[in-house]
Amino acid sequence: SNEPPVVFHWFPIIGSTITYGMDPPRFFVENRAKYGDVFTFVLLGRKTTVCLGPAGNDFVLNGKIRDVNAEEIYTVLTTPVFGRDVVYDCPNSKLMEQKKFMKIALTTEAFRQYVPIISDEVTSYFKRTADFKGQLGEVSIPPKMAEITIFTASHALQGKAIRDQFDESLAALYHDLDMGFSPINFTFHWAPLPWNNRRDHAQRTVAKLYMETIKRRRANPELDAQDMMFHLMNSTYKNGVQVPDHEIAHMMIALLMAGQHSSSSTSSWIMLLLASRPDIMEDLYQEQINALGPDLPPLQYEDLAKLPLHGAIVKETLRLHAPIHSIMRAVKQPLHVPGTKFVIPTNHVLMSAPGVSASDPVFFPKPDLWDPHRWLPDSPNAPSLSRAPAGEDEEKIDYGYGLVSKGAASPYLPFGAGRHRCIGEQFANVQLQTIIVEVVRLFKFRNVDSSNKVIGTDYASLFSRPLEPAVIHWERREQ
Ligand code: HEM
Repeated sequence: SNEPPVVFHWFPIIGSTITYGMDPPRFFVENRAKYGDVFTFVLLGRKTTVCLGPAGNDFVLNGKIRDVNAEEIYTVLTTPVFGRDVVYDCPNSKLMEQKKFMKIALTTEAFRQYVPIISDEVTSYFKRTADFKGQLGEVSIPPKMAEITIFTASHALQGKAIRDQFDESLAALYHDLDMGFSPINFTFHWAPLPWNNRRDHAQRTVAKLYMETIKRRRANPELDAQDMMFHLMNSTYKNGVQVPDHEIAHMMIALLMAGQHSSSSTSSWIMLLLASRPDIMEDLYQEQINALGPDLPPLQYEDLAKLPLHGAIVKETLRLHAPIHSIMRAVKQPLHVPGTKFVIPTNHVLMSAPGVSASDPVFFPKPDLWDPHRWLPDSPNAPSLSRAPAGEDEEKIDYGYGLVSKGAASPYLPFGAGRHRCIGEQFANVQLQTIIVEVVRLFKFRNVDSSNKVIGTDYASLFSRPLEPAVIHWERREQ
């Protein structure tokens, strides 16, 4: 037949679930060596075809709406967590409009306001948190970055009133929502299990809180800040229907959840990698002194562009530690894979893993080395993106939520591509770079044993993140 080769396995149903689940990137690389860029493996009983390399990235992520479908795969996980009628609980054309509405609050003008908010949240966090009292200490960093991410994101995107409730009830409720995102819920999303009951209760409670806030704001328009909720409250679908309150509430949940895991995991990796390379943390401090002056004034949005190494830290960390290691689509009609003899039947799931090309030596010299300087001029390890096949031209396309690059045939796509591409990239960059700036001003990090070692990855949840505990040694810069 002309179906792609199937990864060898001993047992039906289980197939490759265990070896894939333990370490997806390793699974991809090992099987690419045996079978090539396109192969099928059995994941929880489903034949899953992965397409690797820049061409594979393009094939899956730029798939036509009549060929591939995201919502059929994701809805079982996301709809109970976000709520009805948004994101994957509606037709794709509606999602494209919703992404356009959400993007209005993610513009340069908004980011100008967000930078001081994020800066304040970070500095006040380190002032009040017991684990950072004194001159030096040791701490497992991922739980701290998770808190910093939720405080900064909720304050910037949802306003101070909502942010303040994260000190109390909201943190626990969002934790319960989070439990809905565990991979076993691909199978057991419907089951009346304790964590699913807590998920459903949390979804109703949080949505109600947002809807009450919306009502209060409609009644008192003079209170209105020009924030995310404001923009959604003033958005109208192309068919003339104003966005209903429950959809606004559900989009608010979706936005915070979408950003939380990815940003929190990325900021944890950044801090751990800096602890493994104190010399680079020092380079960052020097970059700030040189670009902003020795008194290091309060950070402004405009300053971020003057700090290219800070930007490169985010880029390089996402190259090696993209939080989303596998992107999935349902196959809507038999798909011929360009440049091959393979046809993928409709009972397969299609999978993209751009992290594989992002660590391919063909495009990134010394691919396993975390080398932020490779993104700056004159680096011997500069990416050779020019070796990616056609598609690197800057042709743009609008799926309904603004222009995005048409060719996804790039080896480096931590934010995806095509109609499902991330709308949070700029926000994440602003958030992460601001967090780096403030942390570098306050601390010197190193590994507890002063080595250059970096901890391994936990792939057990849907988003990959550092294994815990991930303890670093910190020391205050100023006495
Ligand atoms: C979609 C990555 C932060 C909101 C995506 C996708 C990726 C991604 C790979 C595509 C998923 C797919 O094709 O199935 C990341 C990374 C982030 C990040 C690496 C941070 C380091 C954020 C933030 C927000 C956000 C902060 C919100 C403010 C979204 C939304 C989508 C999306 C709304 C669209 C989903 C769709 O159209 O199907 N993100 N993201 N992301 N992301 Fe992000």
